This record gives sequence, C-alpha cells and structure tokens, in this order.
Amino acid sequence: MRKNIVAGNWKMNNDLDASIELVHELILATDDIEIGNTRIIVAPTFVNLQKVREIVEGSRVEVAAQNMHQENSGAFTGEISAEMLQNIGINDVIIGHSERRAYFNETDELLAQKVSRALENNMNVIFCFGEQLEDRKSENHFKVVESQLKNGLFHLSEKKLGFVILAYEPVWAIGTGETASPEQAQEMHAFIRNLLKDKYGNEVAKNTSILYGGSVKSSNAKEIFSKPDVDGGLIGGAALKVNDFVAIIKAFS
Ligand code: 13P
Repeated sequence: MRKNIVAGNWKMNNDLDASIELVHELILATDDIEIGNTRIIVAPTFVNLQKVREIVEGSRVEVAAQNMHQENSGAFTGEISAEMLQNIGINDVIIGHSERRAYFNETDELLAQKVSRALENNMNVIFCFGEQLEDRKSENHFKVVESQLKNGLFHLSEKKLGFVILAYEPVWAIGTGETASPEQAQEMHAFIRNLLKDKYGNEVAKNTSILYGGSVKSSNAKEIFSKPDVDGGLIGGAALKVNDFVAIIKAFS
C-alpha cells in the first residue's frame, strides 16, 4: 500500500543554525504523534544536508536533497552528484522542481537523465511537475502534465518506477497563496494515476504516492489530503515554521 508523505522543501532558506534549530524542533514535535506510517521528509540546502542528516538519526524525520547533477563526477564546477549524496547518507532527492525548470533551464530530457542517474545510484526520487497558469487558462493542463510525465519519467521500467514519488505542483499555486482547490487537486491526481495505470498497470498505479504542492497550509491541508488520490504534500513556505509544518503533518492524524 502506498505511503502518505509530508515533505518540506526548504529551498534556499535556513542557514546552518536555523536548519539545526528547525530540525531539532521538528523531531521533538513529531516524536509521539499518531500519524500512522506517514513519512516526514525535509530537504535542506546542500551545505546543511550532512549536519541535518546526522541530527535526524534515530528519529522519524528523513532528509532529502533538493537537486543533483546528471553525471556521477567530472568537470562540472559547482555541481553535486548522486554518488556524493549517497556517500553522506542521503537516499532521497527532489528532481524537476518548477524553479529548477524555470530558472535553470532544466528540460524534460535533462530531468529524465537525472532521474535515471539517481535511481542507478539507488536513490529514491521525488519527481516534480505541473502546469503554468497559461496552460490551465487555455485548458492545456492535462496535456502539459502528461507530456512532463512521459518525457521525464516514463522511460523507467516498472521496477524503477517503484522508487519514485510524484509531486504535482501547479506553478500558479507555488508561493502565491493561491492553492488548487481540493477538487482540482483530486481531478489532476486521478488523471495522473490513470496515466500510471495505462503505462505500468494497476498495481503500480495503486502503489505510487502522488503528493500535491503549492501553497499548502495548516488551514487547507486536511481537506486536500483527504482526497483519495492525494497522498500528502510537498510544502515550501509553511515548512519553514515548525508549528505550521507540524500542523500540516497532523492532517494525517
Ligand atoms: P509553497 O508551499 O511555498 O507554495 O511552495 C511549494 C513548493 O514549491 C514545494 O516544493
């Protein structure tokens, strides 16, 4: 059975001290809450990954990277590889975030390479995708999402797809305060699950977690997460404050 997941993407926020404080508070606040088998993940910036990973040892909080390079090593100044992440005990990585696509020109083709490289290194992938506002306004959102999935992910074997979590993040809802309605999220998540079913069969479709991301807050998390095809969230701004993030996690209690 697929897992519920609440993941906090800290983006380029939190220096070392702030990262240490936030993760300590998060561990304390989630130590004894009743949220079944819900996974809790945080994704700090690269330089703080190792420290945060050491701190979460033995707790229920897990740590993911926000990005990685598609090659294992070489002359790629400023980049970080899957091998390097694995080497410091990071087993999960976010790939394809809309900010990477928009500001760093990451294409579907590049993302497909990153996904393959991460899986080859035995990492789990949180694969992000989602339409722009214009796509939704012109009613192309299903088409856009379908092509992002086909181009970035559907080259994978059924076995490899088992190590991927999907995160639908409509770009117009990220950091804007404008959330997709629970109905809009459910409609898209059902569409995505159906694409998985067509390509990989019912078992895979049933077992793949699909997260929603985009202005999730403590006030709307419960309603969004209660939809049958929404298996949790990828949280930006609200993951930076422990009380807000914990309240979102508690949507699964
Ligand atoms: P916000 O929750 O700040 O809208 O960000 C969502 C996001 O981009 C998570 O990856």
